[in-house]
Amino acid sequence: MSAKLPDQTNDPAALTGDVYVQRFSVPFEYPVHFTRRAFHPRNALLADVLDRLGEGRRHRAVVFIDQGLADANRLLVNQIKEYFHEHPARLELAGAVNLLPGGPAVKSDYGAVREVLWTIGNLHLDRQSFVIAVGGGSLLDTVGFAASVAHRGLRLIRVPSTTLAQNDAGVGVKNGMDEHGQKNFLGTFAPPFAVVCDFDLLRTLPWEHWIAGAAEAFKVAVIKDTEFLDFLCTHAKDLRGRDESVMEQLVRRCAVLHLEHIRTGGDPFEFGSARPLDFGHWAAHRLEVLSGRRLSHGQAVAVGIALDTTYAAACGLIAPAERDRVLDAMDACGLPTWTATLAARTDEGELAVLEGIEQFREHLGGRLNVTLPAGLGHKTEVHHMDAAKIEAAVEFLSRRAPARETP
Ligand SMILES: NC(=O)c1ccc[n+]([C@@H]2O[C@H](COP(=O)([O-])OP(=O)(O)OC[C@H]3O[C@@H](n4cnc5c(N)ncnc54)[C@H](O)[C@@H]3O)[C@@H](O)[C@H]2O)c1
Ligand SMILES: [Zn+2]
Repeated sequence: MSAKLPDQTNDPAALTGDVYVQRFSVPFEYPVHFTRRAFHPRNALLADVLDRLGEGRRHRAVVFIDQGLADANRLLVNQIKEYFHEHPARLELAGAVNLLPGGPAVKSDYGAVREVLWTIGNLHLDRQSFVIAVGGGSLLDTVGFAASVAHRGLRLIRVPSTTLAQNDAGVGVKNGMDEHGQKNFLGTFAPPFAVVCDFDLLRTLPWEHWIAGAAEAFKVAVIKDTEFLDFLCTHAKDLRGRDESVMEQLVRRCAVLHLEHIRTGGDPFEFGSARPLDFGHWAAHRLEVLSGRRLSHGQAVAVGIALDTTYAAACGLIAPAERDRVLDAMDACGLPTWTATLAARTDEGELAVLEGIEQFREHLGGRLNVTLPAGLGHKTEVHHMDAAKIEAAVEFLSRRAPARETP
C-alpha cells in the first residue's frame, strides 16, 4: 500500500512556494557633444565618439538621414560619405547613406521601421555596429526605435538637426512611435551610445522649427529655473529674430536641464507616474493628434504650456502677473499661445482636448500626475484637473489671442 501524501492545499506557505530575488543594476553612460561642422573631414569628433570605448578596431556604421534636412542641405549626404572616406582606419560606412522622410508622418510609419530593420539585416550589422540617425526628433524616434529592437539593440548615435531635437528629443533615453491615435503609444527606453549636436545644422531650419525648441525651454524654465526664464524673457525678440548665439545658449541650457533631470530625478526609465518634464504635454499631445498633425510638437507644447500656466493661475498657484509674464514672453518669441483646435468640441459638447487627460494618465500609469508651476521656477503635482477651470482657461486664452502678434 503506498503512503498517502500529506494534503498541502490548506498550508499557505506551501501554496505560495519559494522565491529567488533577482537584483542587479546596469550603469548607463553616454556623452552629449556640442560641436559645429560635425561632418567636416578634419573634425575628428565623430570618429572619436564611435571609438570611445577604445576597442581599437574599425567600426561599421549605417547612416539614416532626415529627407527634409537633406533637401535643405544638399551637400550633407556627400559630406557624410566623404567623412567615412577620410577616416578609413576607424570607420566603415555600411551601405549607402539612407534617406527617410522627416516630420510627424514617419513616426506612425511601420514601413520606415521595417526599412531600418531590413537595412540592418541586409548589411549583416551586429550588436556592436552603429546606427547613426541624423535628423529631427521624429526621425530620431523612429530610427531609434528600430535600432533598439534589431538584435535587441544596436549602438545608436543621434545627430539631432532641430532646436527641439538638440535640446530635448535627441538627448534623452527613450524613443516613441505614434499608434492607436496616441502619441508615443509605442516605444522603448534605450539610452544612446552618444549624441552629437551640430549647431550649424540648425541654419536651414524653417522658422517654425527654429523657434519650436524654445517651447521646450519655456517648459523647463517655468517649473525649474527662474534664471533661465529671465534669459528667455530678456531674449525673446532675439530668438524670434534668429539670433544664433542666443539660440545656442538656449539649446545647451535646456539640454543640460533635461540631462540633469534624467540623471538625478531618481526615475530615468519612468516607472513612477510623475513626469515633470511633461509639463504642458497632456494637452500638447492631444492637440497634435486633434489638429491632424497641422500643429508641430513644439507649437502644441507652447499652447499646452499656455493652457496649464493659465490653469495654474486660476488655481492660485501662480499670480496673474506671473502668468502674463510667461504668456507675453512666448508671444514675443513668436510661439503660439492659442490655436482654434483648443476650442474644438466632441459630439457631447465637451472640449475635445480634455480627452488628453485620461490618455496622459494611461500613458504614465497609476494615478493622474500633472505638473504645474507653483511660483515661477517651482513645481507641484496635481492629481485632478477641474474641467470648469480648463474651460475658463481656454476662454481666457481665446480672448487674448487676437491682440497677439502672429509670427
Ligand atoms: N524621445 C523623446 O524623448 C522626445 C522628446 C521630445 C520630443 N520628441 C518627439 O520629437 C518630435 C518632434 O521633433 P522635431 O521638433 O525635431 O520635429 P520633426 O522631427 O518633426 O522635424 C520637423 C521638420 O523639420 C525638418 N528638418 C529637420 N532638420 C532640419 C534642418 N536642419 N533643416 C531643415 N529642415 C529640417 C524635418 O524633415 C521635418 O519636416 C515629436 O514627435 C516629439 O514627440 C521625442
Ligand atoms: Zn515635448
